[in-house]
Amino acid sequence: MAALRLVCLAVVLAVGLVHALDISKFKDVPVLARTFKNLSRGPPQQVVTNRAVVQEKWITQKLDHFDESNTGTYQMRYLLNDEFQTEGSPIFIYLGGEWEIEQSMVSGGHWYDMAEEHKGVLIYTEHRYYGQSVPTTTMSTENLKYLNVKQALADVANFILTIKAENAELANSKVLLAGGSYSATMVVWFKRLYPDLVVGGWASSAPLLAKVDFTEYKEVVGQAFLELGGQQCYNRIENGIAELESLFANKRGAEARAMLRLCNSFDDKNDLDLWSLFGSISNVFSGVAQYQSSGDIEYYCDYLLSFRDDATAIANFVYWGFGMPTCVDATYASTVEYYLWSVENFGAGRPWYYQTCNEYGWYQSSGSRNQPFGTKFPATLYTTLCGDVFSSQFGNEQINNNADQTNEYFGGMEPGVENVYMTHGALDPWNPMGHGVAQGATLIANASHCSDFGSIRTSDSAELRASKEKIADLVRQWLA
Ligand SMILES: *[C@@H]1O[C@H](CO)[C@@H](O)[C@H](O)[C@H]1NC(C)=O
Ligand SMILES: *[C@@H]1O[C@H](CO)[C@@H](O)[C@H](O)[C@H]1NC(C)=O
Repeated sequence: MAALRLVCLAVVLAVGLVHALDISKFKDVPVLARTFKNLSRGPPQQVVTNRAVVQEKWITQKLDHFDESNTGTYQMRYLLNDEFQTEGSPIFIYLGGEWEIEQSMVSGGHWYDMAEEHKGVLIYTEHRYYGQSVPTTTMSTENLKYLNVKQALADVANFILTIKAENAELANSKVLLAGGSYSATMVVWFKRLYPDLVVGGWASSAPLLAKVDFTEYKEVVGQAFLELGGQQCYNRIENGIAELESLFANKRGAEARAMLRLCNSFDDKNDLDLWSLFGSISNVFSGVAQYQSSGDIEYYCDYLLSFRDDATAIANFVYWGFGMPTCVDATYASTVEYYLWSVENFGAGRPWYYQTCNEYGWYQSSGSRNQPFGTKFPATLYTTLCGDVFSSQFGNEQINNNADQTNEYFGGMEPGVENVYMTHGALDPWNPMGHGVAQGATLIANASHCSDFGSIRTSDSAELRASKEKIADLVRQWLA
């Protein structure tokens, strides 16, 4: 299997090489936007073995839950699977985050299995501004003022009240929440703001602390490559990236540009271009580590180690990660242009970028020395982008204030909630922003981001299985 994948990769790379000789005719998605978006994709889809009938439904929500004078509304989408519904069924809601909702989450996996055990109704809600739940006609900065987690949590609260009010069978039902990544954060914060609406929650990989310069992220990405791929692989990454940096620093930029197949517009005298390039390179590794499952990192490390030298290995690997465009567009200017284009082109990553500027930061920078991805992508790259893409109001100080306010409002690492079970992968780069074992969370060895939603399987590690059994037990207690 691994061998076959390697052959495919080699063939595709060879084809890519031929294309790279063409003159740049098309403009591909700039690699910084592309790799950033990749990291906010939803939790892995579940394996579905039955034929559940999932209904797509819509509910009217207030555009602004906190301004009585604003009478605007929008249609929020949700998915419903009521195959187990009966009088008094508990309601199992999986919360959507910064992605489009899809059916598998309510038709398979551990959440589904628990709903089956308790004859629960399964629901997947879509977060405002993502997927098809878009309240405004454009994503201009002015229109994005209704996009924030407080509004999204109020949507969920209104959703629960409405579902119960409109469905006699569910009028007295208990409600449980689950979520992964940002939607896991929402589970925790929902319990904090609306403790009486839900009996309990499962938060897989919930970051709790807003932090602008998120230096720990790349450390854990490096650790995943070290622990699962080995020291040689780690060294190859570290040396290859250092070598590319030094080519640019020593007037050998032309060589590096050719190796990386960069478009001619790339200006290696421009820090923002260099930062965009090296941020994107590191993001390809993040994309692999954040959602790795057994064997992935080993496979990519074999590929990296199949080259004669470090820099060539990195160049070929990231070219694959960039989707093998005609030429690699890593300029800062086209990144800005792309996010401006996405004012009217939804699904291109603009709303999540906005939320980072406005609420969380979480910029995965090169600020730590304890990671192999070099030194060339400071958080300033991302904060500068906030200013250029949304509003000059988003200066460094404002972005830091926004993150501070988020922590003050939601309690940061001390959210003060009961009956929320938090799980993390020990090799999930997001885990430093969430609770550790000392605070009652479960860390699952070798696991990545949101990797525990599958049904209990014989291939689960003992720890993963124990954690799944623990949440199943908690759900029994909450519903007792
Ligand atoms: C984690 O992965 C490493 C490397 O593949 C392996 O040696 C180790 O046994 C794994 N640990 C667990 C708890 O699965
Ligand atoms: C994200 O990136 C990883 C590795 O870089 C790749 O395997 C995956 O297909 C990408 N997914 C999307 C949705 O772009």
